[in-house]
Amino acid sequence: MSSEPRAGAASGAEPILQLAGVNKRFGGHVVLNDVSFSLAPGEIVGLVGPNGSGKTTTINVISGLYRADAGSITFAGQPVHQVPMHKLARLGINRTFQVPKNFRDMTARENIEVAAHFGHAQQQVDVDAILRDIDLLTQADKLAGALTVNQQKLLDLGRALATGPKLLLVDEIGAGLNPAELGGIAELLLKLAQRGISLIVVEHLMAFLNNITARVIVLGAGRMLFEGTLDAASRDPEVVAAFIGG
Ligand SMILES: Nc1ncnc2c1ncn2[C@@H]1O[C@H](COP(=O)(O)OP(=O)(O)OP(=O)(O)O)[C@@H](O)[C@H]1O
Ligand SMILES: [Mg+2]
Repeated sequence: MSSEPRAGAASGAEPILQLAGVNKRFGGHVVLNDVSFSLAPGEIVGLVGPNGSGKTTTINVISGLYRADAGSITFAGQPVHQVPMHKLARLGINRTFQVPKNFRDMTARENIEVAAHFGHAQQQVDVDAILRDIDLLTQADKLAGALTVNQQKLLDLGRALATGPKLLLVDEIGAGLNPAELGGIAELLLKLAQRGISLIVVEHLMAFLNNITARVIVLGAGRMLFEGTLDAASRDPEVVAAFIGG
């Protein structure tokens, strides 16, 4: 694996997240192979790679939806690779889904309220503030199923925010959105990072990623091919070959 000095990281800060030698297989199919990286508080890293390279699986094992078969995941200094998803949400890890998982027959506001129950037990959730962040305050009483694709993606993000995450895993939020919508989401993700939330952003849209971070991790067939700047990644022969092959 080639690598470069980290861009955009709060260098020297204690990592909020560390993966070391993470492996995941489904039956005989190895989907993640020795994945190791770390993330600083308030840092955004892009996770890129061809279809089927293991991006969503990486999010699934960090968020506790799946358990890694080998390796370790440490969050805020605590080993978490055996911790179930609902407990990780309380600890401060949450995620969005490639296909939003909102309750379609509930309003936007109700979706945020329900999600808040899965977060920090003690935390007072300001539902209006979250609705404002995701630009849905004026649509708060609309059923989730009646919202636009962009609004549904924002609501899925808002549900994750309602649990008070310190680490937010965002899976292809940009897919299918127009440039204005992408700009709005980029601005929001940057704002969240400024508040100290660390973000792993899975994305196929490189221009979108380039607006929010310089640091990317590239996966190819479950292995880390590259870690460094997006610019350098685009010139790395292994990365180029993986994308052409994929
Ligand atoms: N629950 C599962 N059971 C069996 N195989 C799975 C499961 N989840 C993922 N896989 C396989 O693991 C590999 C990686 O899938 P993953 O969804 O992580 O890829 P991805 O990089 O997110 O792809 P995409 O860009 O298409 O979203 C694929 O071969 C996929 O078929
Ligand atoms: Mg995926």
